[in-house]
Amino acid sequence: MKVLVLGNGGREHALVWKLRQSPRVAKLYCAPGNGGIADEAECLPVDLKNLDSIVAVGAQVRPDLTVVGPELPLTLGVVDEFSRRGWPAFGPTKAAAQLEASKSFAKEFLQRHRIPTAPYAICDSVEEVRAALAHFHAPVVVKADGLAAGKGVVIAVSKEEAAGVAAEMFSGKMVGEAGLRVVLEECLKGDELSFLVLSDGERVAPLVAAQDHKRVGDGDTGPNTGGMGAYSTQNIIDDKMRDWLVHHIACPVVEGMKAEGAEFKGVLYCGLMMTARGPMVLEFNCRFGDPETQPILMRLESDLVDALEASIAGRVSEGDFKWSRDASVCVVMASGGYPGTFEVGKKIMGLDEAGAVDGVKVFHAGTSKRDGSFYTAGGRVLGVSARAPDLQAAVERAYRACEKIRFDGAHYRKDIAARAMKK
Ligand SMILES: Nc1ncnc2c1ncn2[C@@H]1O[C@H](COP(=O)(O)OP(=O)(O)O)[C@@H](O)[C@H]1O
Ligand SMILES: [Mg+2]
Repeated sequence: MKVLVLGNGGREHALVWKLRQSPRVAKLYCAPGNGGIADEAECLPVDLKNLDSIVAVGAQVRPDLTVVGPELPLTLGVVDEFSRRGWPAFGPTKAAAQLEASKSFAKEFLQRHRIPTAPYAICDSVEEVRAALAHFHAPVVVKADGLAAGKGVVIAVSKEEAAGVAAEMFSGKMVGEAGLRVVLEECLKGDELSFLVLSDGERVAPLVAAQDHKRVGDGDTGPNTGGMGAYSTQNIIDDKMRDWLVHHIACPVVEGMKAEGAEFKGVLYCGLMMTARGPMVLEFNCRFGDPETQPILMRLESDLVDALEASIAGRVSEGDFKWSRDASVCVVMASGGYPGTFEVGKKIMGLDEAGAVDGVKVFHAGTSKRDGSFYTAGGRVLGVSARAPDLQAAVERAYRACEKIRFDGAHYRKDIAARAMKK
């Protein structure tokens, strides 16, 4: 069969790498892909912000299965358009993708279905924010309603700061249209957990848990990023917690969406805070996470095509995934200056040596290939990933590989999974 992956990051490289292992895949395309993906799939140019451009790629490939990496094409309705043309596509429809595309939609949905989440207020003006703040204690979380590529959430230490941040969001200067509506939330304390399930609109099958590292610096310091690393092990959560999350969060979401006429198919990514009062939903993503997908797929032993097709066809069951008991980790190597401004076009050296380390796979995120050499082409450049029987060994392998890779300005966190190993 012909499979098309949409996207150009480390997540999409991991999807391509895993899909290629399926005996059912005869031809693999990625649009637009990146330097590293080009070694494993045929890359096609596309503008992922433009639905017509994506449909044109579909018409060219006529894929038997399409896997959408990033959120934007999903919220534009790529799954609706592809399905309508008879090209099976994995992921939620435009209506179901609202769970990610609008934080106010998600909060009201959670409240309607009594799924645990932080108390909140939805505001459309600075006056509304000021009035609502009377019901909050500092710190207050201020969130832009729409998609903001990780730049739409500020934890304000005072109500004054919260009002200021909201004003900046409303001005459109901070995150554009995404900030024209704002959600205020009570600030929750606890460990964060990414809990992902595969859904067919009715049933869910949980993926193994993963934990990512959002801050740029060691010890969770410095500004937020798209994610500087992630790991996955057997014991991030136990079976009891997993079952609780399935029955009290994932299933109610899927049942609620169906009841409201917007069946959710695809990967439902629940961003959770594990508070003293129990797990609470921070947000939903309607797709695989980046970089969590890299360690998650490194532990997947069964055929990914079968699982994705089960979601489309409405026959998901717990047995769709076979997981390795191994641990896995992904360390993101980023361009100098990221998440601020950075330069691209730096030559990357040592990739072959890094890839030769036992259990290591180097996923490309922001790279391009010219005359047989790879160059940096984005903020997050590589996801150096490793699998091993235990977390410590996986971490050692990943860092051994990182040390072999060189490019001007390269930086990466030295403490990915360190807190988990201490526990
Ligand atoms: N209610 C909250 N309490 C405490 N921290 C929060 C809360 N909501 C969000 N955060 C923090 O902000 C980060 C980003 O928020 P999130 O809702 O996941 O938005 P996005 O991923 O779209 O930027 C979270 O990963 C978490 O660290
Ligand atoms: Mg998030």
